[in-house]
Amino acid sequence: MNIKILYITAFIIIGVMPLFLSAQSDEMIINNVGVFKKHTRPLVHFSHFKHQYMDEVSCTDCHHIFFLGKNVLDPDYLIEGGKSIKCSYCHKSQSDLRQAYHKQCIACHDKYAKAGKKAGPGTCGECHVKRAAGK
Ligand code: HEC
Ligand code: HEC
Ligand code: HEC
Ligand code: HEC
Repeated sequence: MNIKILYITAFIIIGVMPLFLSAQSDEMIINNVGVFKKHTRPLVHFSHFKHQYMDEVSCTDCHHIFFLGKNVLDPDYLIEGGKSIKCSYCHKSQSDLRQAYHKQCIACHDKYAKAGKKAGPGTCGECHVKRAAGK
């Protein structure tokens, strides 16, 4: 293999790495046990990957830093394991955190459903799905 191709190959591999890294955050189990202490509902499984790459949905539809009422978050700031990314970093109380998730998740699903598009779940049991122990 000539050296140029080697360089190009290495470049491509490094280039797609972030895609694999972000793919790790697929099927998150949202579990803020530190805030809720004891869950009264089954845990919610959330396909981050699927949401991340939906048409018409961008990172800043869900992630935000508000400054003077405007979302000024730079998506480059969203890196795996970043503590300040967690919703609970700012929405600290049980009621605030529960509302933050519910408002964000359900409002968007409602919007899609009303527009007659394929939407996500809107009822309690469809998000808080009862699963066999350990799942
Ligand atoms: C679109 C998905 C979605 C829907 C629909 C939804 N929830 Fe949630 N709910 C969540 C998420 C995500 C959390 C955060 C859980 C966590 O952080 O551990 C949550 C948290 C909660 C909590 C606090 C944690 C606990 O288990 O005690 C309660 C109570 C709750 N939801 C009840 C409800 C009820 C009642 C409904 C129906 C009226 C409902 N939810 C509908 C996603 C949803
Ligand atoms: C539909 C809402 C939504 C969209 C769109 C979205 N995210 Fe997220 N993201 C979340 C939620 C919810 C979490 C979990 C936060 C928590 O644990 O409190 C999260 C967590 C993350 C994390 C932390 C993962 C970890 O485990 O450390 C990163 C990094 C991230 N998102 C990056 C992105 C990027 C980059 C985009 C755009 C390409 C994006 N997100 C789009 C909702 C979303
Ligand atoms: C850096 C801090 C910070 C982080 C992290 C954060 N938020 Fe927020 N969020 C805010 C602030 C500030 C507001 C402005 C409204 C307020 O004062 O409640 C807000 C507002 C909201 C609102 C609108 C509230 C309403 O009453 O209309 C929702 C919904 C929401 N956040 C959901 C989330 C979700 C879901 C996450 C995690 C993916 C998240 N937030 C992460 C700081 C944050
Ligand atoms: C900005 C819009 C938007 C937000 C915010 C959003 N969703 Fe969704 N969600 C969608 C759409 C659109 C679909 C349907 C996509 C499809 O199935 O093709 C969907 C589908 C889903 C599904 C079923 C599809 C699957 O296979 O995963 C679940 C579960 C879900 N969402 C949970 C959540 C939870 C939990 C949150 C909040 C943490 C959330 N969503 C926030 C737009 C959104």
